[in-house]
Amino acid sequence: MQKKIIFSGMQATGNLHIGNWLGAARNWARLCAEYTCLYCVVDLHSLTVRQDPATLRENARSVLAWYIALGLDPKENTLYFQSHVSAHAELSWILSCYTYMGELNRMTQFKDKSAKNEANINAGLFTYPVLMAADILLFQTDLVPVGDDQRQHLELARDVAQRFNQVYGEIFVVPEGYIPPVGARIMALQSPGKKMSKSDENLYNCIFLSDSPDVIIKKFKRAVTDSDNEIRFSEDKPGISNLLTVYSCVTGRSIDQSVADFAQSGYGDFKLKVGEAVVEALLPYRREYDRLIADTAYLDGVIAEAAGKARHLAAPTMARVRTAVGLP
Ligand code: TYM
Repeated sequence: MQKKIIFSGMQATGNLHIGNWLGAARNWARLCAEYTCLYCVVDLHSLTVRQDPATLRENARSVLAWYIALGLDPKENTLYFQSHVSAHAELSWILSCYTYMGELNRMTQFKDKSAKNEANINAGLFTYPVLMAADILLFQTDLVPVGDDQRQHLELARDVAQRFNQVYGEIFVVPEGYIPPVGARIMALQSPGKKMSKSDENLYNCIFLSDSPDVIIKKFKRAVTDSDNEIRFSEDKPGISNLLTVYSCVTGRSIDQSVADFAQSGYGDFKLKVGEAVVEALLPYRREYDRLIADTAYLDGVIAEAAGKARHLAAPTMARVRTAVGLP
């Protein structure tokens, strides 16, 4: 029987952080044995915010190298750049004609991003979720493993697929999301009311995968907790619960086991131990990343081969869509 298909992606903007890893990439690596997987570096999406060209190019390669370092074998998975497969943009245009302004207006990420980028609220920022729907639908994707913040975008992709199918017959598979039970929303260390984000101005809020062990420990030591010195997982303790989540994800201990591990600890000791657990878990991945990013010829080979594979996989859907809508 043919394997089901997974598609997911990350932006090429800035460095990856532990939210990207624990909320998404960690599950990608777990699921990849059972599925045919495409993991894309969504560099076109990154253009919605003004980028320095050389930095964007470098970041895109860096994200791809992290994919491999975090356990995605490029022989088994198609790891590629979105901009290398023009069908993404082509399908996005077509789908934009089947997406309502009202739907896009409701997207909370558009509202958040426009509030942060008042000087550059461009049309790409608005139609961003249509390109994301095209990414997914282009490959007849069954499952989309993402963090919690992509829930609404995923719902839109499903709505657009269903609408299109209603008009033209069964052209697209309607994809399901995979949002992990633990780690789907890693919060900012010093403001645990908001999610960890690479564009955060406060660097202490975010643990980058490329942070040195010293920096990681320092950031965890400064994480915001609360005033009652009790380590338990609860909605009224967002800082502590976030640290327990991170610890649970990197050690494989359940939340209950994690709470038990710290039954005798104070907050200072707890934060240090969480930081140390993250450093230890990241170490082999960092070594692999450092090796890969220096191996230019190998990465170039992976990139070229995967682009060809992704173009080939996208072609049948694109042909069906063109025929369905009546393009000559
Ligand atoms: P991006 O680049 O913002 O994030 C990549 C992945 O990381 C997850 N994530 C988090 N998970 C837990 N806690 C956090 N604090 C956290 N921050 C980010 C995201 O949910 C995501 O899974 N629009 C997407 C990229 C995209 C895409 C796609 C994803 C474009 N096309 C098609 C899936 C399918 C984005 O900006 O992700």
